[in-house]
Amino acid sequence: MKINGRSYRTIWRDSDGRRVHVIDQTGLPHRFETKTLARCEDAAAAIRDMTVRGAPLIGVTGAYGMALAVWRDPGDAAIESAYALLLATRPTAVNLRWALDRMRMLLLATPVAERADRAYAEAATIAEEDVAACEAIGRSGAELIHRARRGDGPINILTHCNAGWLATVDWGTALAPIYAAAREGAPIHVWVDETRPRNQGASLTAFELLGEEIPHTVVADNAGGHLMQHGLVDLVIVGSDRTTRAGDVCNKIGTYLKALAAHDNDVPFYVALPSSTVDWRIADGVRDIPIEERSAREVTHINGRNADGAPIEIQLTPNGSPARNFAFDVTPARFVTGLITERGVCAATEDGLKGLFPELAS
Ligand code: MRU
Repeated sequence: MKINGRSYRTIWRDSDGRRVHVIDQTGLPHRFETKTLARCEDAAAAIRDMTVRGAPLIGVTGAYGMALAVWRDPGDAAIESAYALLLATRPTAVNLRWALDRMRMLLLATPVAERADRAYAEAATIAEEDVAACEAIGRSGAELIHRARRGDGPINILTHCNAGWLATVDWGTALAPIYAAAREGAPIHVWVDETRPRNQGASLTAFELLGEEIPHTVVADNAGGHLMQHGLVDLVIVGSDRTTRAGDVCNKIGTYLKALAAHDNDVPFYVALPSSTVDWRIADGVRDIPIEERSAREVTHINGRNADGAPIEIQLTPNGSPARNFAFDVTPARFVTGLITERGVCAATEDGLKGLFPELAS
């Protein structure tokens, strides 16, 4: 997708074929910079400090982290320690475990001399699969958007956090249908939840939509219910960091409240996800998905830039007030109208997911 008219992906290999480059998302929307990942430890740090974020992109970065480790040391012990280091970076998005498991299994079964080349090839395959899945999600979801059109006005879509191309390798999950439908001529307007505390909506989703010239409006997180009560939202589309086999959806904190408001106002609530986001081992998301708790400083302080364009951090809370920062919540399947996947749209149920992915569900 585009930044200042130039096409980018979020992660790519250096011309040496070994080092990896990523867009540093901590500087966006005000500063565009890339970072080089030369060692497994760099990949782990990039995931942990959210240089890269978003469930699918975390998975791909983890896969390249394994490749970087094996490039330096292809032995079994190095594979195991890279796996443990990368897995410990962020607990909720299951794509990370999915990609690391896939890399570990393949590499341990590969002759040592061939491991580095196989590792890079597999990480690149995971990245390409993500692009293809997100593009397919775009095609499936675009149909839903066209069908939501009422009259001549814009189709109003509300989204939460950033589940766009910056959260994946390209295209995005929740935003992919929006990009696809817009290219097909649908008149779309997106309500962008700011998404406190890190404001991925206000900073990243708004930045992406500007780059693709999609009309949008940033709103405070608490505005969604009001917009729905007044008929200003035709559908909600969000992403997912982990979806259980029964269709419960874990996504950025605040998603659950949007689903409740959508339910109360008969607004369709869709979740877009590639199958790498489904955790087939669990059914009950509220009970079984580990929720990342991040630094309280993300709640007590806010980042932006001052009038001169310099980065600035502002303290919001009084000295001494404790804060807690739960990064995700779980929306039970009963509030989800449907799941938009790379194989089409299904009900948020075990049968729905099994129908589309029978080989993964067993
Ligand atoms: O904490 P983040 O920024 O990694 O959280 C990202 C989200 O919650 C996205 O909505 C999610 O990964 C959807 S997948 C593109």
